[in-house]
Amino acid sequence: MVEELINDGLDVIVLDNLGQGHPQAVPREAEFVLGDIRDRTALDNLFASHRIDAVMHMAAETLVELSVTDPKRHFDTNLAGGLTLLDAMLGHGVNRLIFSSTAAVYGEPHSVPIDESHPAVPINAYGESKLMLERVLAWYGRAYGLRYVCMRYFNAAGATERVGEDHDPETHLIPNILRAALDGSAPVNIFGSDYPTPDGTCVRDYVHVSDIARAHILGLEGLESLSGRAYNLGSAMGYSILEVLEATRRVTGVEILRRLSPRRAGDPAVLVASSALAREELGWEPEQSSLDTIIATAWAWMQSHPEGYVE
Ligand code: UFG
Repeated sequence: MVEELINDGLDVIVLDNLGQGHPQAVPREAEFVLGDIRDRTALDNLFASHRIDAVMHMAAETLVELSVTDPKRHFDTNLAGGLTLLDAMLGHGVNRLIFSSTAAVYGEPHSVPIDESHPAVPINAYGESKLMLERVLAWYGRAYGLRYVCMRYFNAAGATERVGEDHDPETHLIPNILRAALDGSAPVNIFGSDYPTPDGTCVRDYVHVSDIARAHILGLEGLESLSGRAYNLGSAMGYSILEVLEATRRVTGVEILRRLSPRRAGDPAVLVASSALAREELGWEPEQSSLDTIIATAWAWMQSHPEGYVE
């Protein structure tokens, strides 16, 4: 996101508590502030010392399984932290926001592809915490003139030349498969092979991070007329875990060891977006979200950063 904003000639300030992030990932052109959205004083200092035009709020706890077994952190950061951020923004006269929401707001879909009118019934506390903040935004829009758009990401993946995924622990499928391809040692776990899908494994809609970033910029540019809208950001193509494994073998040329494992808590069987609304209203055209491009860009980044971001 920061790379895209800078390429567009905008000034960017990054606030991150580095709970999962890496300072090396922040482009030099951006100002970096170490801080947490739950820290009102830090936010007040930031808003008081800069002229901020708009906020892109991406700070969150995102581990789905943890959100089921130990939901406290998700509500503390995603809901309470979100409220603190909104208060600080509005207190300093900043009323433009692009909010990172998620496909997890829909829960177990009753029809696919999922469009934005599909009922939102989360099956994990991660999705619930994001949906709660979406609802707060609607009320703040009416009452306080907040201008906002919610972006409901499906499975964000892929990399740019400089920036890729490096989480500890890594829970996402594609970097875990690529790690197995790089090391050739430990097999990839396949969490559940008895789902009601054609091959029994979960089906997901993978969308490239650069396409997601582009949608945010379009949302920001059109904010006055789009305020209050929520958009699905997905490629509109679903792939099972076995299909992702096969695509990775094809792209990397490496055979990848696999191990069938039990289901992971909180995983819906199928999540595939209809992204028609984003295409129509934002004019969004995903350009890098074919599965092969996603895997190829993530693979290139992993090969050039075999140890991830070295501290
Ligand atoms: N999976 C495996 N093995 C792994 C990792 C994942 O089999 O090593 C499976 C998961 O069980 C799931 C699929 O691969 O079925 C995709 O898993 P990810 O962890 O890559 O992504 P999720 O679909 O769980 O989560 C993503 C985002 C969340 C968001 C969610 C929406 O990371 O932030 O989509 O449901 F909430």
